Amino acid sequence: MALPESFLQELTARCDIYDIVSRYVKLKKSGSNYFGLCPFHNEKTPSFSVSRDKQIYHCFGCGAGGGVINFIMRMENMTFPEAVRHLAAQVGMEVPEDTGASYGEKRKRLIALCTESARFYVEKLYSPEGKGGLSYLLGRGLSPATLKHFGLGFAPDSWDSLIHAMTQKGFTKGEMLECGLVVQNKSGGVYDRFRNRVMFPIIDIQGRVIAFGGRVMDDSMPKYLNSSDTPVFQKSQNLFAMNFAKKSKGDFFLLAEGYMDVIALHQAGFQSAVASLGTSLTKEQARLMASRGKEQVIICYDSDEAGKKAAQRAIDLLTPTGLKVRVLRMSGAKDPDEYIRKNGPGAFRDLLEKSDSDIQYRLGEIAARFDLEETQDRVEFLQQAALLLCAIPSAVEREIFSRQAAEKAGVSPESMLEEVERQRKRRARQARVQQERQAMQPARAAQPAARDLRYDNVRSARREEGLVALLFSHGELLDRVSSRLQPEQFSSPFLGKIYELLLKRRQQGEETSLGLCMSLLSPEEGETLAKLVAKEPPVQNPQRALEDYLSVIEMEYIKKKNQTEEQDDAALLELAQRRLRRQQERGGM
Ligand code: UTP
Ligand code: MN
Repeated sequence: MALPESFLQELTARCDIYDIVSRYVKLKKSGSNYFGLCPFHNEKTPSFSVSRDKQIYHCFGCGAGGGVINFIMRMENMTFPEAVRHLAAQVGMEVPEDTGASYGEKRKRLIALCTESARFYVEKLYSPEGKGGLSYLLGRGLSPATLKHFGLGFAPDSWDSLIHAMTQKGFTKGEMLECGLVVQNKSGGVYDRFRNRVMFPIIDIQGRVIAFGGRVMDDSMPKYLNSSDTPVFQKSQNLFAMNFAKKSKGDFFLLAEGYMDVIALHQAGFQSAVASLGTSLTKEQARLMASRGKEQVIICYDSDEAGKKAAQRAIDLLTPTGLKVRVLRMSGAKDPDEYIRKNGPGAFRDLLEKSDSDIQYRLGEIAARFDLEETQDRVEFLQQAALLLCAIPSAVEREIFSRQAAEKAGVSPESMLEEVERQRKRRARQARVQQERQAMQPARAAQPAARDLRYDNVRSARREEGLVALLFSHGELLDRVSSRLQPEQFSSPFLGKIYELLLKRRQQGEETSLGLCMSLLSPEEGETLAKLVAKEPPVQNPQRALEDYLSVIEMEYIKKKNQTEEQDDAALLELAQRRLRRQQERGGM
């Protein structure tokens, strides 16, 4: 079964390794990874690790490791196709049975259709028909450059203008239906879905148009119409403007609620803004943000009740990914778009700097539930706050926030701190009891450790390992590397092969997640890759690390080439000498 890469890519993106593994193994967070007792060998202290942002597992004890598909193969004792089917069924994906080529081809055509449609809408925005749309967008404070940057367009007030244009380009009505660009009525006729709306193309992280949102230009309903899920667009997996935000400088993403907020933010210079487009944030979107090497997310949702609820939910989804979360508090404006229009980008930057950490935000939300003038309420606030604060690992932070909470409630800092430490001891006790229970499980023979890679040139191979790990965490660096380094320059054929795969997919305009790569390798190779990525420490300065890696790899390669040339020279010399000797022998006869 040769499954198309695009299918495996999506499958591995939808099956979060943490979710899958935690059905079998009890996992506890430690640093940016999760640890548990290895299901593949017997142990008393956890050495089995799961990395959510890398989507791999690796056991430091027995060496088992790989991606999500490999985990299921081992755990359920399944073959590769069985494991794929098993996982696909759980996330509601159909396993393509026909040849890989046709599945990939179809996706390509649908993406081409979306791209052509986006061009069509843009043309219309600047045509006489689009006059109303253009003045609406400009009237909302967007500059002509911003309109171009985001590819904003206009869907004419017509039932079939898109259908006509796309038919001329060679697309079928079936394809338009599949992309959600047209709608079918009861008698089977089709008509344009987006009419008389300004159009926002939704672009995936790799820069391809995959869907649309369209806004009315007055107060009629629904305000926004969005493409439904299609074979090339899953709402839950994409973030609006991530194609730009992934390239932004700075160590944070801004998370907003909608199209206009994000566009206004980018225009005001905040290029790390993304939005989850009307639905509440999903796990996949949280993971998408966590996997780009940034440290923080600042939630900039609307200041209304719905926005607050959504912020709580987003905090719950984001913190487990290891991202630090802060929450912006805005007053005097409904959303970031309005705030910036009223007060300017500088004022918004001040807000960002003042934004609360997730702890402060939660303390505020807990406090809001109580009347802190009342003694009974104060006691309850104290207890609930302590429950939140006792989970903070750093003693210094615990103290700072405890003091803040005490001040809020009008109680003495000492009594707050005392309550926090009491809860903390209780937690520690619970954890100990649990560990002892786990330690009492009977022992089984450990499985043999996975065989290590043997390197010809350790000096180069260490950098090759670092480079490969770096390219998975910072895919954007690949373009810089590709012009300088060929797969043959790797001293390790295995690492060279992975690099070649990354290059090949990049040429096709595709990114390669670690999860996908795992599913394309043999289990042994996947294990090796998981191991080396798991032990690679996070890189502080990717550009610098890249230069270091490249310079050593290039140098070692040149050395090796010179060596072979020297050997070649030596061999030639010897040949010549032998020939000479033979001639002399013959001559001497
Ligand atoms: P908002 O109503 O806050 O939108 O909805 P907004 O971006 O501020 O829009 P403007 O400023 O009125 O133009 C937030 C997001 O929820 C989704 C859209 O993605 C929107 O950007 N939404 C909203 C819909 O999908 N459909 C709707 O009818 C309304
Ligand atoms: Mn708005």
